[in-house]
Amino acid sequence: MSNLENTKKTLPQHYSKTDPYCVVLKEKAVLSHPNSSKKTYHISLDIKGSDLIFHPGDSIGVLAQNDPELIKRFLSLLNCPPTTPIIDPRSQVEMTSEDYLLKKVNLSRVNTPLIRYIAEKNKNEELLRLLQPENKVALSEFLLGKDLIDIIELLAQEPLVLQDIAQFFTPLLPRFYSISSSLKTHPDELHLLVALLSYPHGDEVRYGVASHFLCHLATESKTSIPIYVQPAAHFKLPDDPAANIIMIGPGTGVAPYRAFLQERLSSKATGKHWLFFGERNREYDFLYKDYLLELEKQGHLRLDTAFSRDQESKEYVQHKLLKHSEEIWNWISNGSYLYVCGDATRMAKDVEATLLSIIEKYGNLSEHDARAYLKNMRHSRQYMTDVY
Ligand SMILES: Cc1cc2nc3c(=O)[nH]c(=O)nc-3n(C[C@H](O)[C@H](O)[C@H](O)COP(=O)(O)OP(=O)(O)OC[C@H]3O[C@@H](n4cnc5c(N)ncnc54)[C@H](O)[C@@H]3O)c2cc1C
Ligand SMILES: NC(=O)c1ccc[n+]([C@@H]2O[C@H](COP(=O)([O-])OP(=O)(O)OC[C@H]3O[C@@H](n4cnc5c(N)ncnc54)[C@H](OP(=O)(O)O)[C@@H]3O)[C@@H](O)[C@H]2O)c1
Repeated sequence: MSNLENTKKTLPQHYSKTDPYCVVLKEKAVLSHPNSSKKTYHISLDIKGSDLIFHPGDSIGVLAQNDPELIKRFLSLLNCPPTTPIIDPRSQVEMTSEDYLLKKVNLSRVNTPLIRYIAEKNKNEELLRLLQPENKVALSEFLLGKDLIDIIELLAQEPLVLQDIAQFFTPLLPRFYSISSSLKTHPDELHLLVALLSYPHGDEVRYGVASHFLCHLATESKTSIPIYVQPAAHFKLPDDPAANIIMIGPGTGVAPYRAFLQERLSSKATGKHWLFFGERNREYDFLYKDYLLELEKQGHLRLDTAFSRDQESKEYVQHKLLKHSEEIWNWISNGSYLYVCGDATRMAKDVEATLLSIIEKYGNLSEHDARAYLKNMRHSRQYMTDVY
């Protein structure tokens, strides 16, 4: 055995996209109420006996599989038996066509070279016209909302050969999920909080690949789920157990904070914890409610919640931050660590704008200096974000 192999066997592992560790699902539970307008799952993965190592704040990469029903449809459109061998053009590895489509292909992405290939093969004049540079807009409009299966169904008059068109497919990439448990509390399990992504596709409901795989397709103790750890040096607990932490995490953004809290409580950290959590409705979407309320009852957690759809006007976590502006300033000016996790598109920007306004007002700073203050907090890792 080489030194390298030896090291790999004895050191705890993160694993990687090309060398993942396969786990099975231990259990899953829908945390949102059946009446909720969304579905969010608590997923527990069985890591007993593994040498996986991770820290609070880390995420895992999941190599999910496409829905077998969609793959069945795809194979039947191609008149291709599932066991037909194919060489994956990326890795040059031979596998069955079914395995290849399940594990390697991004079904939702259709690119121009594939359209060109079909147009030329079928001598489809209309399609060839659409491919002219001047018809770029019309082509994007035509492709909008169509996936690979739609395109093959619509355009391929003659069945296509999977091996010939595989070169045009884009790869199925790993999806990341924040780990919501600490090894100190759950040494044999790795927990996730997954929001199921769904959207209408014609008359059907379609799901996001990885959330569907984890929440619906994977079966307990059975389905192999390849994962690897994505360490988060940019999003970790302070080394000092006496440091106070403020955690802002609406929706699934609360996931890493459960890991933070488990870790800090297991290690008897003396610092204070303040969590701002937000979701749609208190009655239906209060994720990890029992755990958080219990910690609050025991005096381990200060909890502020913002349920956006429980009243006429939207109430978000930043409104709760504003309500406690002066205390927030006192905490951060006294060195508390500040974390933001969750939606990047809107939430993280709005929360940051609110934090800036608090720093400006209570720090008695100009807008420019407030920005510099927050920038400095970021550089010194007093302010950490993990947004997606
Ligand atoms: C560091 C990090 C941590 C994360 N942590 C978490 C976490 O803890 N929990 C969590 O739930 N998520 C988390 N995410 C997000 C997660 O990685 C996935 O992006 C998310 O689960 C969606 O993946 P999916 O495979 O289910 O959906 P995908 O298959 O990626 O589907 C998304 C795609 O669906 C299509 N789509 C979506 N809506 C529509 C529509 N209306 N019409 C047509 N097409 C549409 C679009 O093509 C879109 O790109 C995290 C992301 C990062 C980067
Ligand atoms: N790109 C987007 O437009 C978009 C939108 C939503 C979610 N997502 C993604 O969907 C996934 C799952 O989302 P999630 O279930 O974790 O939760 P989420 O959809 O982010 O919602 C959690 C809570 O945040 C509220 N919210 C909405 N906009 C906000 C803002 N600007 N500031 C503060 N809070 C705001 C929501 O309220 P309301 O819903 O009542 O407004 C809800 O109460 C994530 O990957 C997220 O990035 C993307």
